[in-house]
Amino acid sequence: MSARILSGIELAKRMLDGLRTEVAQLNPQLVIVQVGHDPASDSYIRKKMESCDAVGMRVQLMSLEANTTMEAMQSLIHDLNDDANVSGYIIQLPLPPHLASVQPLLFRSMDPKKDVDGFTAYNMGKLLLSKEFEHLPPATPAGVLSLLDQYAIPVEGKHAVVVGHSNIVGKPLAAMLLNRNATVSVCHKYTQDLGAITRQADILCTAVGKPGLIRGDMIKPGAVVIDIGIVRTEDGIVGDCVFDEVAAVASAITPVPGGVGPMTVACLIRNTVTAKKRQQ
Ligand code: GUN
Repeated sequence: MSARILSGIELAKRMLDGLRTEVAQLNPQLVIVQVGHDPASDSYIRKKMESCDAVGMRVQLMSLEANTTMEAMQSLIHDLNDDANVSGYIIQLPLPPHLASVQPLLFRSMDPKKDVDGFTAYNMGKLLLSKEFEHLPPATPAGVLSLLDQYAIPVEGKHAVVVGHSNIVGKPLAAMLLNRNATVSVCHKYTQDLGAITRQADILCTAVGKPGLIRGDMIKPGAVVIDIGIVRTEDGIVGDCVFDEVAAVASAITPVPGGVGPMTVACLIRNTVTAKKRQQ
C-alpha cells in the first residue's frame, strides 16, 4: 500500500478545539430531531452529541415516535424556528416513509438561518452562487473541502469526479468543487462505464454507500480518493472503495471510519456556532 492516509480524526479535533472559545462566549444550542429509530442514525446522533459535549456546546435530542404526523412535524419546526434559545436544528435522515415523501415540504418550513445541515433551498441556492460561506454549507461536503484544505491538496484546475448525486452530498459537493475552480464530473447509478470516468479523476469523491463499488482498476495512478460512503457490514463499517486495492494505486485516501465522518460532525458544530453569531 502506497497511499497517504487522510485521517479526519485529528483534524476534526483541531477544528473543534478552535471553536471552544466561541462556544463558551456565544452559548449556542443544537437540537437534533429524530423520528423513529434507525441503527445508523442512532450511531451518527451519538457521535454528534459526543462532539457537542466535547466542545462544551448545548445539545438536545428530540426523539419522536415513528408514527409522528406531518402536522406534528410542521408544528415542531415552527416552534424551533421561533425559539430564541435554539441556535440551529437538524432533522436526522432518513425519515420514516410517510414523512420522507413530504420531506421537501418539511424542509421548506425550516428557517434557513437555523438550518445547520444546510439542506434548505436558500442555503443550497447561496452555495451555488458563492464560494464564501455566507450561507450555512452542508456539513459533509464542507467536511470534504476542509479535509482537502488541511492536507494542502490543491483543487483548482484538477478534474474532480463525484460519484453519487444526492441532494445532501453529491450535488452540493460538486457545486463546492466547481466554486473552487475544479473541472467537475458527476456520476450516478445511471452512468454508463463508471470506471472510464473515475479513471480520469485527479480527485475522486465517492458518496454512494455501496461497498466494493470502487476498485483499484478504476483509479488513476496518484489520484486523491475521498470515500464518503459509510455502510455497516458484518465486517464492520466500510466505505465505497475496496480499500487495499484503491490505496495501492492512489496517492492519498480517506479511511472509513475515521476519514470524512468526524469532519462532517465538526462542520455541523461550526455551522451551529455561525448560526448563533448571525442571530445576534
Ligand atoms: N443522515 C445521514 N447524514 C445526514 C446528515 O448529514 N444530516 C442529517 N440530518 N441526516 C443525515
